[in-house]
Amino acid sequence: MAKTAILELDGKKHALPVVVGSEGEVGVDITSLRRDAGAITLDDGYANTGSCSSAITFIDGEKGILRYRGIPIEELAENSTFVETACLLIYGKLPTRKQLANFSDLLTKNEMLHEDMKYHFEGFPPSAHPMAILSSMINASSCFQPGLLEGYNPEKFDLQAARLMSKVRTIAAFAYRKSLGLPAIYPKPTYKYSANFLHMMFSEPYQDYDLKPEVVKALDLIFLLHADHEQNCSTSTVRMIASSRSNLFACAAGGVCALWGPLHGGANQAVIEMLESIHREGDDGTRFIAQAKDKSNNKRLMGFGHRVYKNYDPRARIIKAQCDKILKVMKISDPLLDIAQKLEEIALKDDYFISRKLYPNVDFYSGIIMRAIGIPVDMFTVIFAIGRMPGWIANYKEVMDEATTRIYRPRQIYTGPTLTHYVPIGERK
Ligand code: SDX
Repeated sequence: MAKTAILELDGKKHALPVVVGSEGEVGVDITSLRRDAGAITLDDGYANTGSCSSAITFIDGEKGILRYRGIPIEELAENSTFVETACLLIYGKLPTRKQLANFSDLLTKNEMLHEDMKYHFEGFPPSAHPMAILSSMINASSCFQPGLLEGYNPEKFDLQAARLMSKVRTIAAFAYRKSLGLPAIYPKPTYKYSANFLHMMFSEPYQDYDLKPEVVKALDLIFLLHADHEQNCSTSTVRMIASSRSNLFACAAGGVCALWGPLHGGANQAVIEMLESIHREGDDGTRFIAQAKDKSNNKRLMGFGHRVYKNYDPRARIIKAQCDKILKVMKISDPLLDIAQKLEEIALKDDYFISRKLYPNVDFYSGIIMRAIGIPVDMFTVIFAIGRMPGWIANYKEVMDEATTRIYRPRQIYTGPTLTHYVPIGERK
């Protein structure tokens, strides 16, 4: 591979260094471009722009490969847990038994919210979207964390990371209970991460939720599969905020807001709403597919397509395999799963999708599992956010640990009016 790329502009040649990643990915380093050539690059949606070098997650979109710190997602799905995978992402290697126990202890010790947080919950109307509550309450909870606003301190990072990862689960469950007018259910220190979340969501003061091992495992897997995904929209947002040296909780609150959009994490909610409307209209999917291909309306086959994957999203394959298992355990048959499978079957034979390399992504089947567990649709993206927290924490740490990180401040090409002057209001037309 050449060591430099040559850019010719106005008859002048500029040599730009070429960087090659550990998986052979090639990047042209344009750090000197504006200084030497007086030009910047323009890249709508950053589709061709690397914002950073990162050692956390690797995706090969053409081959449908996803690895966390080099370990294939399929092996982690088969052998690991969400908390163990969180340690892998955040600290760069699989934890020893002792390290895992220490991190689990920190999660347990920090699972409660400050009692005064309940006044914040009281302030939300029952109809408040849980993603709005989540982003505000992550920031609100940071006000109760002494020392958090001092800025990044490696000695205090472990505690802050555990606090965020643990409390985000409690905030989500409390938000759900509040929306139904139900009393908050406090975490149990004897329960592991995902079991405790289900307990806080679905137990009652007079009766504990029946924690079926297969249901706990299915939710833990959903969290694990969502844990990180390179520089997606919300993770890039977290890094953007971290680059100004803001605190971890502020970065996570920003990540929640970016994730909420229907083109990103909000897609899991949009998929189920799409499947429900197809079901209501008695469509077997054929009519909807035709609409999704027709540019004259703004319908898209939600849960399909991806900026990076031009092949089947490996996470979708794993989740799809889980659907049948969880429906059997819950003794449910879900017509939406049949519709989803029919949509996939039609789309993967249709040239519109084939030519654009549109395949099911992580959001296409995840809602089926969450529905089967009894998680309401407006909590689906909250589940995604809880799963993505370790990835955001790992990226925050990577930005903070990198001494040379500069504040993220992209340039632009200005297309507005050239020099003009103020006109007093009496002279305006
Ligand atoms: C996530 O980045 C990540 O890693 C994200 C994520 C993560 O883990 O963080 O993987 C999680 O966000 C998954 C994606 C969830 N979103 C959806 O499922 C929403 C539906 N999909 C899309 O809107 C779309 O595919 C995106 C947003 C995912 C990707 O958008 P791009 O890369 O900007 O592609 P595009 O919109 O430019 O589409 C290219 C073409 C267009 O057609 P043409 O202009 O070439 O004719 O494909 C078409 C689009 O109209 N297209 C679709 C489609 N997705 C793309 N047409 C119908 N249905 C779709 N779902």
